[in-house]
Amino acid sequence: MGAILRIEANAFPKTPYDPVTFLYFVSAYPDNFRVYIAGHEVVGYVIFYPDGHIVSVAVHARYRRSGIGTELVGEVLKRTRGDAIVEVRVSNDVARAFYSHLGFVMQRIIPEYYGDEDAVVMINPFSKEKGFTEKGLRSKLSFTKKV
Ligand SMILES: CC(C)(COP(=O)(O)OP(=O)(O)OC[C@H]1O[C@@H](n2cnc3c(N)ncnc32)[C@H](O)[C@@H]1OP(=O)(O)O)[C@@H](O)C(=O)NCCC(=O)NCCS
Repeated sequence: MGAILRIEANAFPKTPYDPVTFLYFVSAYPDNFRVYIAGHEVVGYVIFYPDGHIVSVAVHARYRRSGIGTELVGEVLKRTRGDAIVEVRVSNDVARAFYSHLGFVMQRIIPEYYGDEDAVVMINPFSKEKGFTEKGLRSKLSFTKKV
């Protein structure tokens, strides 16, 4: 748990989940809380609901860009037969690039989802829904903090 909390704090400095939230997900959805272990260390995790709604995915900063995030989201897609949906802070360029790389498309904006920022909802490519582009994203934002 310590390792997960450290990854969380580093990955989401503004709004990290607290230990109670993690304990809730472990007990409520034990099969949907997957961790990635390198050596003896937990270096990444993903939490998702059974319907494929991704709650959180994060990889230790030192281990990024080596395919771990891809493997973790791959676990989600495997267990949901390809269904997945996730909200991403519009300012989180890395997450948008990451999910786009995996074939997710931007579906809609949820204004001020994070209080101080809009969320862009991204869905997996198997839904057959047509997403919008990065240019389209900019025109859809409601919050002042535009990307
Ligand atoms: C998003 C995150 C989970 C990606 O994990 P990762 O293990 O580094 O991802 P991968 O190595 O599988 O990357 C797959 C692809 O995503 C894209 N990508 C990942 N990080 C990127 C970056 N910093 N800049 C641009 N593209 C990026 C690339 O296309 C990459 O493929 P490549 O390395 O062959 O170019 C990780 O950066 C992270 O923990 N970020 C902080 C937490 C967060 O924002 N989570 C997502 C919101 S729920």
